[in-house]
Amino acid sequence: MGRNLLLNMADHGFAVVGFDKDAQKGATLESSASSGTTVKGVTTLAEMVQLLEKPRKMMMLVPAGKPVDDVINDLLPLLEKGDIVIDGGNSHYTDTLRRVTFMEGKGFHFMGVGISGGEQGARTGPSIMPGGDPEAYPFVQPILEAVAAKVGGVPCVAHLGKGAAGHYVKMVHNGIEYAIMQLISETYDLLHRGLGLDNDELHKVYRNWNDGELQSFLVEITRDIFLKVDEKTGNRLVDMILDKAGAKGTGKWTSQDAMDLGVPIPVIDMAVCLRELSAYKDERIQAAALYKNPSSDIPVPQEVFIQQVQDALFFGVIISYAQGLAMLHVASKELDMQIPMQEVVKVWRGGCIIRSSLLEVFFKAFQKNPELPNLLLEGEIAQLLQAKKQNMRNMIIHAIHMGYPVAGLMAALSYFDAYRSEKMPTNLIQAQRDYFGAHTYQRIDEPGIFHTEWNK
Ligand code: 6PG
Repeated sequence: MGRNLLLNMADHGFAVVGFDKDAQKGATLESSASSGTTVKGVTTLAEMVQLLEKPRKMMMLVPAGKPVDDVINDLLPLLEKGDIVIDGGNSHYTDTLRRVTFMEGKGFHFMGVGISGGEQGARTGPSIMPGGDPEAYPFVQPILEAVAAKVGGVPCVAHLGKGAAGHYVKMVHNGIEYAIMQLISETYDLLHRGLGLDNDELHKVYRNWNDGELQSFLVEITRDIFLKVDEKTGNRLVDMILDKAGAKGTGKWTSQDAMDLGVPIPVIDMAVCLRELSAYKDERIQAAALYKNPSSDIPVPQEVFIQQVQDALFFGVIISYAQGLAMLHVASKELDMQIPMQEVVKVWRGGCIIRSSLLEVFFKAFQKNPELPNLLLEGEIAQLLQAKKQNMRNMIIHAIHMGYPVAGLMAALSYFDAYRSEKMPTNLIQAQRDYFGAHTYQRIDEPGIFHTEWNK
């Protein structure tokens, strides 16, 4: 990823230096450079620092955690006041905040920058989410704008707020990424195990979806995955992959932080849980032997069911974005990050893993109201959800009836149904709390705090 980003910068006319202790990596960097560009690979930080123009602009792309602190410590004796150090990895925002304070105390600038798009995106145009130090941003802005993905000529990069805002926005981006991937996997299960579609048929279904309102990077790659042949066996590769999901942690961090903030994001939570459940392969094998397999008795014609699944996915995807963006809205205030929501959505329109044509609709929503607390409150989005609601319900009824797990889709629908409930059954919870713990309650007809001796 680091190499690709450097090559991208070089293609846009910037002279770049890549540091890696492994000389072979530096040689590969130099040999991959386009002719006429200035690209140098070095094996020591001292050489790198010496070659850079001041104020030096240095971006780290190393795994989150200790490796970031190690690089900072190695760099410290080589830096001069005003130098800019950027962490372009997926660091936890609390680490970024600590590093900002530490580096500023020493007279250096430190920025946490989220970068999305994977290796390919880094080469051709990623989505870039810088945050923090506003003084340092103008120095790196032209570079980031040049290399970022473009949508209608507009670069997918913007300064996204104070402190660790860049890494916070990237964390939530990844939470949404987890949610959408979970929902897509549930639709795959229904169509594959449920309907019995083979990989060629699945390819066609996802191709049709990607050609329509579900157009997005994740549906597009799903379409292509079904055609990939395993070189070893000649089978389709997707069928040869073990059903245990990995996770580097950013989805879990999103859920953990949402809990701390008191913002409900159940589709993201469920996506994290289901990746965790997938790891229990041995237990799942035992349980599968104990309980009956799901039936494939779908009570509607195939094309009707596929339409229901498509609409359910569209509905669930909107809810996933709504939850992530609602979380950002609250976090921006609670953590004093001043995140410009409209800019976040603008930056996500291209280059990143969660780019989709829906982002245009969300962009317009935040253009109308930058303080929109939840996408579900916006008229155009309400219409989209209303149009798909019934098919979402129908699909879930069939999935439950047959016994297929659709936890993410169900979480999306239940969130929707609870969010649009003027009256929730939480009055009963308050009564129970007061009954057993004298926790008090508020009344609907009178201000104040009340307690009742329920046993008297
Ligand atoms: C991106 C991705 C990228 C990475 C994830 C994978 O935006 O380019 O989100 O950051 O692929 O960290 O995360 P998991 O390993 O947790 O799935």
